[in-house]
Amino acid sequence: MTENELKKLLEDMTLTEKTEQLVQLNGDFYGSSEELTGPAAAFHLTKEQTYRVGSILSEHGAAHLKEMQDKIMSAQPHHIPAMFMADVIHGYKTSFPVPIALGASFDPELVRKTAEISAKEAAAAGIHVTFSPMSDLSRDGRWGRCMESFGEDPLLNSKMSAAMVTGFQGDNCGEKGKVASCFKHFAAYGAVQSGRDYNVAELSERTLFEDYLPAYKAAVDAGAEMAMTAFNTLDRVPCTVSKKLLRGILRDKMGFDGVIISDYNAIGEAVIHSAADDSRDAAKKAINAGVDIDMMSECYVNNLEDLINSGEVSEKVLDEAVMRVLRLKNKLGLFEDPYKDASEDDEKRIIGCDEHMAFSRRSAAECAVMLKNNGIFPLRAKKALVIGKLCESGEILGFWSFFADKSKTVTLRDALTQVCADTEFEFIPSDTADEKVLAAAGNADAVLLVLGEDQTFTGEARSCTDVSLDDAQKKLFDDVISVNPNTAVLLFGGRPLAIPEIAEKAAGILEMWLPGTAGCLGIADIISGKVSPCGRLSMSFPYCTGQYPISYSAFSTGRPKDNSVKGYIPFLSNYMDAPNIPLYPFGYGLTYTSFEYSPVTLSTAELTMNGSITAGVTVTNTGDKQGCETVQLYIRDLKGSVVRPLRELKGFKKITLEAGGSADISFEITADMLRFYGIDMEFAAEKGDFVLYIGGDSSTENSAEFKLI
Ligand code: BGC
Repeated sequence: MTENELKKLLEDMTLTEKTEQLVQLNGDFYGSSEELTGPAAAFHLTKEQTYRVGSILSEHGAAHLKEMQDKIMSAQPHHIPAMFMADVIHGYKTSFPVPIALGASFDPELVRKTAEISAKEAAAAGIHVTFSPMSDLSRDGRWGRCMESFGEDPLLNSKMSAAMVTGFQGDNCGEKGKVASCFKHFAAYGAVQSGRDYNVAELSERTLFEDYLPAYKAAVDAGAEMAMTAFNTLDRVPCTVSKKLLRGILRDKMGFDGVIISDYNAIGEAVIHSAADDSRDAAKKAINAGVDIDMMSECYVNNLEDLINSGEVSEKVLDEAVMRVLRLKNKLGLFEDPYKDASEDDEKRIIGCDEHMAFSRRSAAECAVMLKNNGIFPLRAKKALVIGKLCESGEILGFWSFFADKSKTVTLRDALTQVCADTEFEFIPSDTADEKVLAAAGNADAVLLVLGEDQTFTGEARSCTDVSLDDAQKKLFDDVISVNPNTAVLLFGGRPLAIPEIAEKAAGILEMWLPGTAGCLGIADIISGKVSPCGRLSMSFPYCTGQYPISYSAFSTGRPKDNSVKGYIPFLSNYMDAPNIPLYPFGYGLTYTSFEYSPVTLSTAELTMNGSITAGVTVTNTGDKQGCETVQLYIRDLKGSVVRPLRELKGFKKITLEAGGSADISFEITADMLRFYGIDMEFAAEKGDFVLYIGGDSSTENSAEFKLI
């Protein structure tokens, strides 16, 4: 339709119809019974009304959605098709590694491709919009949703968010095999206090702008069609009713003109937050703040019409919201073809096809992070004992695997048996080891202990106060390592775990994350040596839970402690019982080879405001195997009108080098990269001295200095 035709349609619609376009209901409303029961009954809707809403949540399957679309279009006075939206976060039927793992790939193209495949599968199943990417920055592993974040760094998060949007939407979400992308949760949901889900976020405006907003902005700039509000309050206002945030920052400052949807019942929850008197007041505040679609609360459906009639909400505000929804439907091509790509044939052909399974395998291998290796990997043992109940668990896909085809999940046991043909494995799927098991462990050439957390430990509302292993797993490790020092730990999980004892004593540690449907095959590729590990931590692994929140991008304090000095020093900024630095820093990860960096060279040590300088290093593969290195660029601004972080990631390049090979890697530095929110909240670079680091992780000391003049 043309813009004029859409406007004409809007003019023709009654107030009720307009309101209905702004309502999203889930599958509970569409059962076979004529009566709505349970929570659905609380919305006081007739069954007929439920078929007139503008969008539906979490329903999927081509045949089912075509039938629903028919019903909706015949119930609709103007036969407006519905949008079907769902959480396709790390895959639809074929699961990919969870986002914290995807972040660890440091490979935006890989991440784009996972989204492209997910979109193909979801589109064939009739889905039009996915609630992804989650662009929330996370520096707190207590928060179960850190699993859905690309990690602790604004630049990495931005690159990955943009890559996902591009993967889902391509150039145009209306094209075949594409879905519209809804980034979330605006804003700063990842900063919930104490890592407790739904808790308040208390941030300075500067931290919000510098660290938390860039990834959402990257999603906007990549063309994301939708944005979702966050559950939390920010500066004491629930994000979902914050005009300052939604109209002021998201629309006006960031230039977002797509559809804004609330999170699930978040408008209703404004009342519980005590930010609105009742659901009517909440509806008024949300629509005036800029929320177009009400996901799963009864606030809009029961109050918007009345609010317009009473003049408390202007019809112009309503019309703008409805127009945005109609425009998105139009972009998706639904007025021409309301089923879009829904096709039973395509579902059969595309979903879970060999290509998708192969990419699931490959992406898990690229995301896994080798944390320690005393030579146990690649595994050359003739006989290995694999202990741990997770070795045959299928619960390794991640929280958002409700749609996944579980029948295709490859367990670690299956994968090791299939891929590591030169090793004879014995599997003990238990987290306890009796004397017999310990005797077998003592006699094995190597032991692989499968520890960590399955997918039920991370995700929404899965916060915890202790990110170390549970007592049974700790004891299992102690028992086994005492009989066989050639014991490596394979870690599953969606959060960084505090494992200082394991880091000290294990012969090797491989972080596998929650690797997805065929992911364990990729893990086995690493264990067998077919593939060299190349993942780098997207979140610091803490020494202990009490270090949270933690990031490499910290500040000096007035009494800094020199981290190379061990132990507690009174009256300095440090802990009595733990170091300040994490166990494994951001950007860290080992490979099957070693790399050497030349000192950093600069084309000139003076950068002008409009100029650029080139910073370079020569990276050499000094080992005897081909390997992949993630070359990372960090910059420290030595002085500013406000205190500046000790370092910030400003670029990264992933390179593959043959044994003995070397490459010259360079980064172009411009003043734009040095901008920050100064004392007057102006986003600008300030003249002065900078240190630039290039190395293999965030703790590198390979540096050079330059001046911005
Ligand atoms: C989550 C969102 C999700 C929505 C719809 C909410 O509980 O916070 O991330 O998109 O549910 O399933």
